[in-house]
Amino acid sequence: MDKKKMTLAELQGKKDRGEKITMITAYDYPSARLVDEVGMDMILVGDSLGMVVLGYDSTVPVTMEEMIHHCKAVSRAVTAGFIVGDMPFLSYQASVDRAIENAGRFIKEAACDAVKLEGGSDMAPVVEAIVKAGIPVCAHIGLTPQTATMLSGFKVQGKNAESARAQVKSAKDLEEAGAFMIVMECIPDLVAARITDGLRIPTIGIGAGNHCDGQVLVYHDLVGLFERFTPKFVKQYVNLSPLIKEALLQYKIEVEKSIFPTKEHAFSMTPEEAAKI
Ligand code: KIV
Repeated sequence: MDKKKMTLAELQGKKDRGEKITMITAYDYPSARLVDEVGMDMILVGDSLGMVVLGYDSTVPVTMEEMIHHCKAVSRAVTAGFIVGDMPFLSYQASVDRAIENAGRFIKEAACDAVKLEGGSDMAPVVEAIVKAGIPVCAHIGLTPQTATMLSGFKVQGKNAESARAQVKSAKDLEEAGAFMIVMECIPDLVAARITDGLRIPTIGIGAGNHCDGQVLVYHDLVGLFERFTPKFVKQYVNLSPLIKEALLQYKIEVEKSIFPTKEHAFSMTPEEAAKI
């Protein structure tokens, strides 16, 4: 039996009832199916796919076409989870019209339920315009990887009082602009807790402590499929890379030694038919 589709009202209800919201990234059909099967509330098709799937050095080069391609694969797999498509760098900053058009593509072409975009108070007018066009927006504050150069690198944000106040103000402005949720990346837990308690809408943390209304992690980090680096906030629940490498090596050896395939993996024909060849 199909599970019930997650809705905005149910996500808000979870915050109101003090229940945690679960979110994980997924970028393709098989991973999205697994995520949906365990009943994850939300699936983020993050632009982190640029690094963990496409091998870029950062999320900056990711294009709209790449995002739409992966979002389509995810939405074909998901029956219940709420799908958020991540707007890539420069798909929403150049003009409000471009932002609405690109946000619309995630909904119309890729069957996402909402979009996410990075940025603080400055992005509030863009959020407002997209929401007015009828598209739910999840905001993303704190460490915003698309503009990490402007932040002088991948650093925790809001560590001193002034910068913490700026994060609190951003969160308030984005809520006022109509965002239905705010992802907070790499913010001290105390600041994240202050923001969470001060907002009506849910917060989702990644490196923002345990007081957020929910948590998100990158799929490949959680299952040990991204070996280039592991941020401090990641908990690796299983390390699949060595297991997969072991299986691949075993296959290679068995082919080289003519151990695979056996009769079990081959197709036979009757001796009568064989004689006619
Ligand atoms: O792209 C992504 O995966 C993200 C999460 C880290 C929140 O934005």
